[in-house]
Amino acid sequence: MENLEKKAQNVLVQNWKDGFSIPCAKLYPFQWKWDSGFIAIGFAHFDMDKAEKEIETLLNAQWSNGFIPHIVFHTESDTYFPGPDFHRADLHPNASKEYKSTGMTQPPVTGFVLEEMYKISKDKKRSLAFIESVIDKVYDNHSYFYRERDPKNEGLVYIYHNWESGTDNSPLWDDIWATMNPPVYTFERRDIKHVDPAERPTQREYDHYLHIIDIAKKHNYNDAKIAELSPFLVQDPLFNSMLIKSNESLINLYKLIDSSSEKIKQLEAWQEKSIANFNAKLFDEELGAYIHYDLRNEVPLKHLSSSSFAPIYANIPDKERTAILVKNMLEVFGKEEHYLCASFDPRSNRFNPKKYWRGPVWINLNWILIKGLQQYGYHDVAERIKKDSLEIVEKNGFYEYFNPIKKVHLEENAGYGGNDFSWTAALTIDLLND
Ligand code: SER
Repeated sequence: MENLEKKAQNVLVQNWKDGFSIPCAKLYPFQWKWDSGFIAIGFAHFDMDKAEKEIETLLNAQWSNGFIPHIVFHTESDTYFPGPDFHRADLHPNASKEYKSTGMTQPPVTGFVLEEMYKISKDKKRSLAFIESVIDKVYDNHSYFYRERDPKNEGLVYIYHNWESGTDNSPLWDDIWATMNPPVYTFERRDIKHVDPAERPTQREYDHYLHIIDIAKKHNYNDAKIAELSPFLVQDPLFNSMLIKSNESLINLYKLIDSSSEKIKQLEAWQEKSIANFNAKLFDEELGAYIHYDLRNEVPLKHLSSSSFAPIYANIPDKERTAILVKNMLEVFGKEEHYLCASFDPRSNRFNPKKYWRGPVWINLNWILIKGLQQYGYHDVAERIKKDSLEIVEKNGFYEYFNPIKKVHLEENAGYGGNDFSWTAALTIDLLND
């Protein structure tokens, strides 16, 4: 295992580009928002300077309205599509004048990442000083979400693009694609030059992705217009769990820095409303799990995915509900023949064990589940997910995602997507030190 940690550190060092990390060479050659958070947790174990710099660099690209984009295009690269010329984030009046970026965001992990870094740190004083220098920016980001992304004032924020979810091509979105009919775009896919197309989204899915961006661009990425017109408008339990967990961390950290801060009161108010409405609106009794809600078409998306269990990490369910969630997770995703935790319901005809977010196991989701289960005292289940995670990484390498079917791992390489993937390496380091 010592060797595995060393190898993981090497992956991170290799993907470090003087101020920020790329998730993976060629496939993802820029800085990604939620990747940068998980990467910072890995670096915190052996190079705190880089961990802090990673976060600082991301926050430098924040817009003046608090928004943080999902990709910051620090460098030129022709190995990725769509690049800054397609996204045209500069159409928004508050966009960064210094950094090119996208006009969409990603799960708000930065708040809880700061708390994780603090816990890992051996020099608490230095870490607190760092946190003090950046925490208001993270708070402003949360403020943006509650101000601009919650049209019904429910404490539940929406995402307007599948790339904002982080679970890019989840079968969940098929329900939404069925309501849309975008034009056929002519463009050159770059991702499938680096990765087997069988492991990536289809061409038609990309038409949907680009079409939603075009609609947002037509309105200069104006939030109110997007809320009114985007064909994709979803309350995502994973995204909202990351926000709620980050709220909790910001409260803890502000208390360490300045316990009288007005911001604590505001964060507590957000928490109360968000958690109550999350439990009232996003839990499906029949499925026994949290679900997504399609705000555009006013319908719940009744599917099980690994996101269904993420609220455990944000302390959203009570004990009783957590027991239901754990039972379901084990029954549906935890069969003897499967590694935990497939990203989509293995019983579904939409499940595909090789294709990106349509079934494969992801280490970041496993990490979220492990930490959540530990909080509620489910140490055996947490251990099992941890063992599965480390086993698949050790067997295959630091891939982006992995086949959940165990026997495939005996027959062939069962790691897919990009190799030497930063967050897989970073969270392996964290799990090894858990
Ligand atoms: N991961 C996405 C991609 O495929 C974007 O965030 O390009």
